Amino acid sequence: SDVNISQAFSRQRRFEPRGPLVNSEFYTGWLDHWGDQHAQVDTQKVSRMLGEMLSMGASYDILYDFNLCSVWQVGNLSSLLDTLSPQGPVRSLYPLSFEEMNQYYGFMLYRTKLPRDLPEDTALISPLNGVHDRAYISVRGVFQGLLERDTTLVMNVTGKQGDQVDVLVENMGRVNFGSKINDFKGLLSNLILGNDVLTDWQIYPLDIDGAIASGWPQSGQRRSPPDPDRGPSDGPVFYQGTLPPNGLAWDTFLRLNEWTKGQVWINGVNLGRYWPKRGPQQTLYVPGPLLSPTQPNNITVLELERAPPHTRVLFMDRPLLNSTSGKTPQLQIEDRQT
Ligand SMILES: *[C@@H]1O[C@H](CO)[C@@H](O)[C@H](O)[C@H]1NC(C)=O
Ligand SMILES: *[C@@H]1O[C@H](CO)[C@@H](O)[C@H](O)[C@H]1NC(C)=O
Ligand SMILES: *[C@@H]1O[C@H](CO)[C@@H](O)[C@H](O)[C@H]1NC(C)=O
Ligand SMILES: *[C@@H]1O[C@H](CO)[C@@H](O)[C@H](O)[C@H]1NC(C)=O
Ligand SMILES: *[C@@H]1O[C@H](CO)[C@@H](O)[C@H](O)[C@H]1NC(C)=O
Repeated sequence: SDVNISQAFSRQRRFEPRGPLVNSEFYTGWLDHWGDQHAQVDTQKVSRMLGEMLSMGASYDILYDFNLCSVWQVGNLSSLLDTLSPQGPVRSLYPLSFEEMNQYYGFMLYRTKLPRDLPEDTALISPLNGVHDRAYISVRGVFQGLLERDTTLVMNVTGKQGDQVDVLVENMGRVNFGSKINDFKGLLSNLILGNDVLTDWQIYPLDIDGAIASGWPQSGQRRSPPDPDRGPSDGPVFYQGTLPPNGLAWDTFLRLNEWTKGQVWINGVNLGRYWPKRGPQQTLYVPGPLLSPTQPNNITVLELERAPPHTRVLFMDRPLLNSTSGKTPQLQIEDRQT
């Protein structure tokens, strides 16, 4: 912004007559929310202000700011609960929040049964906007759709009495300031299906980070070649692949532009979320030291909705943070590869 540096530091001197001049929040950028415009700070202003701070002897903390790889299906999330939720489910008449389950981040699976036959499309409703923040719903292993906080509070379900209903709930992050700071996660109120309140839940806490950090999925599980006749899978599915070592480990930017929404881990480290359709961020920063120059590098992807027909990811040499200007670099990379 247009802060006058010498004025700002003379204010600091009024309260702290001696000691180092420190700007503890020098913003070289600003955060992007999914679906918002990409935020950017004027480069000239940042470098001018940094120059002024350095010339005054001040310190600062900066606050923010190849190669295709194929991945193969490991399995869908519902079939991997033994690995991801070793302690098993908690039973509860009504849904419990993440906080009540002592799991504060990531994903939890809520499982129940259809209370009656539903031959026709029947509305599954989150009447009090109680899905925090996104719920992926399968009936008898078949993905039916999703509910999203503030956005999608109704979807349709069909099935038979007693069919297993899996509701995977994603915590999409917490606000750390302002009126929404008390932001509990999970199913915060009942889901209503037709005229029935869904009850008798088995709630599985999921330690996906823990499983991946301790070496899951093992190489044996991920060696099965992709089935050319299999269509794109729907619903939450894990994929795994290896990026061969190339002797170097430099900074790269991971792009999953044909994928829908999910989470990526590299060599056991949770890299972050991708959501290219909503954007504006299109790439995830892969710090060079995360990659091994000598061993195959393990990539794990949890796609929540729909993977592309060719399940591969791109390592790019530059970030792409503004989806509206995103077309060209991706085409150049693909041309170079073929
Ligand atoms: C900042 O303020 C000081 C003193 O008030 C003034 O001398 C200086 O010109 C200002 N600097 C800028 C870049 O406006
Ligand atoms: C998930 O995997 C299990 C076991 O392989 C299978 O029975 C089930 O149909 C799968 N569900 C989906 C949605 O593919
Ligand atoms: C649910 O199904 C009904 C009947 O097929 C349809 O009219 C309605 O638009 C559907 N609602 C949603 C949210 O898909
Ligand atoms: C990748 O995973 C395998 C186990 O499946 C492990 O032996 C190997 O060290 C991992 N690679 C890296 C670079 O961490
Ligand atoms: C994002 O891209 C659009 C289209 O090229 C451009 O108009 C806009 O200024 C860009 N925004 C930023 C912050 O770079």
